[in-house]
Amino acid sequence: MSPRLGVNIDHVATLRQARGGREPEPVAAALAAQSAGAHGITVHLRADRRHIQDRDLRVLKEVLSLPLNVECAATPEALESIIGPKPYMVTLVPETREELTTTGGLDAIFLQAPLRQIIRELRATDIRVSLFIDPSREQVMMAAKLEADAVELNTGVYSDIPFGSDPSLELGRLRDAAKRAANLGLRVLAGHGLNLRNVESIAAIPEIEELNIGHSIVARAMFVGMERAVREMLAAIEGVA
Ligand code: PXP
Repeated sequence: MSPRLGVNIDHVATLRQARGGREPEPVAAALAAQSAGAHGITVHLRADRRHIQDRDLRVLKEVLSLPLNVECAATPEALESIIGPKPYMVTLVPETREELTTTGGLDAIFLQAPLRQIIRELRATDIRVSLFIDPSREQVMMAAKLEADAVELNTGVYSDIPFGSDPSLELGRLRDAAKRAANLGLRVLAGHGLNLRNVESIAAIPEIEELNIGHSIVARAMFVGMERAVREMLAAIEGVA
């Protein structure tokens, strides 16, 4: 079975924030993705609130029928803003103010003490926890030890491989990490930098249940609309594009 598609709508909010007004409305984008057949909506509530705002979380939670996955830093301040709206899942990611987008996975080994505490708090409120990690054996094992519900494997390195170069080494790492995570009882997701050209090999990894894709869908939506951009990605994931 093909993985589900979680659509990340952060960059609809990026455009709205460029003028500080109301348009485009990220909630409308989420509803369009939902009607086009997306299986989930993802947003990243960054500490600097550069795109998604607290209000977006509240409204999304109220109007969506799809599960909402909120990415945030593994800090008490981030959790405070998220626990109220109670999304389906929280994905803990590394976050720095200087970065343009998430760069690299969480170091779950270095951060094991704070992560253990945060995972416990989130699970006490019935929110599932996913850790965004690089596809390494050690990180997967630590995610299982910390009793996360899921891991999201970082496909950033794979996505950065130039067209025409051989991606098999990185694909091998992703396949091994996915297998190991599933064997340890973790749900397996993946994402970062995926687009219509590179998604098929990732979608073919049998343990991966869900892909989180944002930038390429929102960029394509500028020309063909959100619904068509989501349908095209769903078709690519199913390998029929
Ligand atoms: N997964 C995580 C953890 C991310 O931080 C992001 C970017 O916000 C994505 C997936 C989606 O990446 P992209 O926008 O490159 O599709």
